[in-house]
Amino acid sequence: KPAVRLALLGCGTVGSEVVRLLHDQAEDLTARIGAPLEVVGVAVRRLGRERGNLPIDPALFTTDALGLVKRDDVDVIIEVVGGIEPARTWLTEALRAGKSVVTANKALLAEDGASLHDAAAEGGADLYYEASVAGAIPLLRPLRESLHGDRVTRVTGIVNGTTNFILSSMDATGAGFGEALEEATELGYAEADPTADVEGFDAAAKAAILASLAFHTRVTAADVFREGMTGVTAADIASAKEMGCTIKLLCIAQRGPDSTGQESVSVRVHPAMIPLSHPLAGVGDAFNAVFVEAEAAGPLMFYGRGAGGTPTASAVLGDIVAAARNRLSGTRAPSESAYAHLPIRPIGEA
Ligand code: NDP
Ligand code: HSE
Repeated sequence: KPAVRLALLGCGTVGSEVVRLLHDQAEDLTARIGAPLEVVGVAVRRLGRERGNLPIDPALFTTDALGLVKRDDVDVIIEVVGGIEPARTWLTEALRAGKSVVTANKALLAEDGASLHDAAAEGGADLYYEASVAGAIPLLRPLRESLHGDRVTRVTGIVNGTTNFILSSMDATGAGFGEALEEATELGYAEADPTADVEGFDAAAKAAILASLAFHTRVTAADVFREGMTGVTAADIASAKEMGCTIKLLCIAQRGPDSTGQESVSVRVHPAMIPLSHPLAGVGDAFNAVFVEAEAAGPLMFYGRGAGGTPTASAVLGDIVAAARNRLSGTRAPSESAYAHLPIRPIGEA
């Protein structure tokens, strides 16, 4: 079969690991998909940037991302740049033109996922975004597919690796906030602007995506109550410890009746004190963990590496394989158009 042609937008922490995995696993991937995957272009911001020994032809690099998106010889666009614009323009253009899109961009999905889903519907195209929440952990597909026949009532979790790394370091070694943030950034966990991590914007974006899938409604980042962890001090952590607790940045999304009895959804992100006996208390380093409670299934726990180039690239690769297989067989990814439109409770309302 002819190759499935990929264009990569971004070749930083995540993108460079996507390139490495595509190269290292080329033979297995071809066998699994039934056709080879071929990278036909890579868009970056700085052509002259040192990229180590990346196993890819340097002639494929360009700074013209939109030009790459518009090329007729591209089947799948993989966006690992981040941010709202120009990513929204690129992805909207690609989806409207019928190209499959794989993205790790939670900020864009949480701010304006609706316009991407609409563009996908318009172009008869598929949008894949498993890597956008909780890095390597398979979480969105189980919510969208495996639990589709059940009723999810609550999702609780640690979904930001950087802040979990910082809080865990402050707790375990007494490290200072600045020192721990610097280390998390060096390890490739933090966002380009780490304010998104420490002020809870990143976790709020992920909470919006999780709540949208779990409750079949459209939750945006603006619907999420958000408090970051910059106010948590070493003294707070020491006091929590004395009480047999630790402090974690939690996301909590639930459905249920509001004060008037109306079934609705509420979503929040904030630091919380949890007992050391709680399973989330032992989630250290940049790991993530998410509890999902569903009426028939009961409690489910998802745990794994929530940040970093290689774990995130694993989720991106899974989506690339799904996109390639679906294109080859003419199958569409499960639709997200059937929203129940549950109301979202205003921020601050019980
Ligand atoms: P990086 O900052 O490491 O990489 C960003 C890449 O995008 C770089 O290659 C950069 O080019 C390129 N880029 C930036 N602006 C443009 C532009 N205008 N045109 C073309 N290319 C551009 O980010 P990450 O790899 O860490 O993150 C990428 C995405 O993945 C984000 O959406 C992030 O939220 C998400 N994500 C990240 C995770 C992580 O652990 N790092 C985990 C899960 C998701 P250049 O190389 O020339 O600078
Ligand atoms: N900055 C994010 C985090 C990357 O620390 O969790 C993974 O989404």
